[in-house]
This record gives sequence, structure tokens and C-alpha cells, in this order.
Amino acid sequence: MEQLHNMLVSYNSRYIPANYRRSWSNQFCEQKFPLYWEKVFLELKKFDRNSKIIEVGCGQGDVTSIMCYLGFKYVRAYEMDEQMCEIAIKKIEYLFGRRDIIVCNKYPQKYENADILVLVNCAYADDCVTKNDYINKMLDFYIYAGKPKVFLLEVIDPEYDIPDDNFPYCIRLTENDIRDMFPQASIHWYQTYRYPINKRTKKLYVIQH
Ligand SMILES: C[S@@+](CC[C@H](N)C(=O)[O-])C[C@H]1O[C@@H](n2cnc3c(N)ncnc32)[C@H](O)[C@@H]1O
Repeated sequence: MEQLHNMLVSYNSRYIPANYRRSWSNQFCEQKFPLYWEKVFLELKKFDRNSKIIEVGCGQGDVTSIMCYLGFKYVRAYEMDEQMCEIAIKKIEYLFGRRDIIVCNKYPQKYENADILVLVNCAYADDCVTKNDYINKMLDFYIYAGKPKVFLLEVIDPEYDIPDDNFPYCIRLTENDIRDMFPQASIHWYQTYRYPINKRTKKLYVIQH
């Protein structure tokens, strides 16, 4: 993990222009990476490298790098922002020589089976007005990926109870919401951020069938 960390810090600080840096991407130039990145690394490490992974909202490719570093053969990482996507493409090609990974498009585009679905640090309300809208959006993502055996899903936790236009109440899900969404699954979670130490409270759920 440390080796990949060093590769990313070095690449990000040298090659990502300052005006393309975002608050979340800046975390990948720092001494310590966000906890969700470490947890995704440790969770993915457990799985067969022939597993197909779909990542939703890969941004500048720092989580995608984990999949390449660990040697997963089949990875599709969707990013709908053109600028972010270009950065991710260049990074993944430079570090791993792979051009078959980043998809510059909004997820989902079509039904596409995966074994593992990853959606971390990517909580957007879009058109959702109620909690059910957001739950259905997450379930749609899961269904479009062919109901994969593993879903790494990070959500805003309602323990964070401050009004916030970027992260409205309707996208804040409890552990019970997640268990109701996946009643047959074995589920464990990590607290990845906690308000007020962090700007928000988030949990990363590992949902397995
Ligand atoms: C906050 S960034 C984080 C990127 C990455 N997950 C990480 O942790 O480094 C979230 C990204 O998700 C992208 N995004 C959000 N919804 C998406 C969707 N449905 N399909 C593709 N990209 C999406 C946004 O454009 C944004 O760049």
C-alpha cells in the first residue's frame, strides 16, 4: 500500500496542474491518504484478480489505481466530467500502461455484469428529492452492474445532521437503510469520516452476497 501511496503522491504533485486540484483530490497529494482509500485497498486485496470491477465516479483515478496496482484484469471506471476523465486516463496510462480502464461517461450506460461494484466518495443527489429516490438510484447502479457479489458503497451518514445543500438529508443513509436494501447480504462497515473532526460523517459499507 505504501508503495502505491508514494507513486500517487509523486505523480499527483508533479503532473496535476494546480487549477485542476479539488479539495478531495488534494488528499491524494498528502502524507496520509483518506481512510476510505486505505479500506478500499485492504478490501479489494482479498478478491480474485479475475473479478471484474466497475467503479462509479472515478474522478482523477486514485481509487482506480488500487485496482491496477493489485493486478485486477478487468476494470471499468466511469467518470462523467471530461476534465477529470482526461486526468485519470493519463495517470492510469503513465503508472500502469493501461488504456482499457477509464470510461468517459456517466454511469450507467447499459447493463454490464461485474463481480465487484465500487462507489466511494461519490454521493450526489442529482434528481433525488426523497430518501427512496436515492435508495432506488443506488439499487439501479447495483442492478445495472448485474447484482455483483460485492458492493463497496460509501454513503453520508445521518449522524451528520447539519443542513448542507451539497449533501441533502435525502442522500444520508443509516445502517438499517443499507440492510433493508440488501436483506440477504452479509454487511460490515467502516466509519471513514466523522463530523465535526471531518467536514461530514460517512460510512463505507462492504456488502457481500
Ligand atoms: C468527489 S469525486 C471523487 C472521485 C473518486 N471516487 C475518489 O474518491 O477519488 C466524485 C466524482 O464522481 C463523478 N460522478 C458522479 N456521478 C457519476 C456518475 N453517475 N457517473 C460517472 N461519474 C460520476 C463526478 O464527476 C466526480 O468527478
